[in-house]
Amino acid sequence: MKSELPVQILKTIREMQEVSEKFRCEAKKIAVVPTMGYLHNGHMSLIERASSLADIVITTIFVNPTQFGPNEDFTRYPRDFEHDKVVAHTAGSDIIFYPDAEEIYPTGFSSIVEVEGASNILEGAFRPKHFKGVTTIVVKLLNITKPHIAVFGQKDAQQAFLIRKMVRDLNFDVDIIIAPIVREADGLAMSSRNMYLNETERKNALVLFRSLQHAAERIRQGERSIALLRKEMLNIIQSGAPTQIDYIAFVNPATFSETEHLNQPEILVALAVRFGTTRLIDNSLIPIVP
Ligand code: PAJ
Repeated sequence: MKSELPVQILKTIREMQEVSEKFRCEAKKIAVVPTMGYLHNGHMSLIERASSLADIVITTIFVNPTQFGPNEDFTRYPRDFEHDKVVAHTAGSDIIFYPDAEEIYPTGFSSIVEVEGASNILEGAFRPKHFKGVTTIVVKLLNITKPHIAVFGQKDAQQAFLIRKMVRDLNFDVDIIIAPIVREADGLAMSSRNMYLNETERKNALVLFRSLQHAAERIRQGERSIALLRKEMLNIIQSGAPTQIDYIAFVNPATFSETEHLNQPEILVALAVRFGTTRLIDNSLIPIVP
């Protein structure tokens, strides 16, 4: 928790790079937490984690247009910079990097970074250019903020996997930390998109966590049939009147490929479900004890 100094807000790439370079010359350890703003306790936990690991914490706030599909919620994505300033500062952020879209994507911008393979399944299958947009902006933010550490959330499990893989494949000199999912008291995973839910949808959305808990409990008890587990999860999710179930996937967390077997040390159960017009994702990493 910090309360003495106001958080420093930087809007240009040049300023941000200069400030980070100065801290590097002073042998300060820098951590970055990339976000799209509308900060909640999930983001706060990332900033707090960053703060515990580094001398200087940079939170980036940029609603990245290139990771939204043409029919997605880019224009209505919630934004509240005044609120975000307070939250970021309270959680321990020293600097907020808050650029305009033209600063990030000037006319003529045409380079992309793509992780092949795992970018096209699950979230990537339902959101075709999404991960190209994510990996490209994350590379830009790493080059702009020059951190030693970057913190992401397990809430976006596929994103976390792809960023880790990209950093390893391309030899970025940065440690990637993945922080656990923060949930509301009743189990709903925190998300900026939860504010789209009406009261009934908000209640119904609890079936997501309930279905994940059910799978974890059944696996703990020894159930090893993915077909059966998926069917039971489907029943629970359907009781919440979803408008569409995009996927309920059993993923090998080491490779991020879907599996039909529960014979590895842990399984990632990931799902994407729509309630009304709101698409929610959630997941759980479940140990498989032989
Ligand atoms: P955003 O959705 O704002 O999330 C920013 C970071 O917060 C991500 O690493 C995400 O996984 C994490 N996060 C979100 N909800 C969380 C929760 N309930 N518990 C723990 N962590 C949570 O993810 C993005 O933005 C963007 O794709 C970004 C990486 C910033 C690139 O534009």
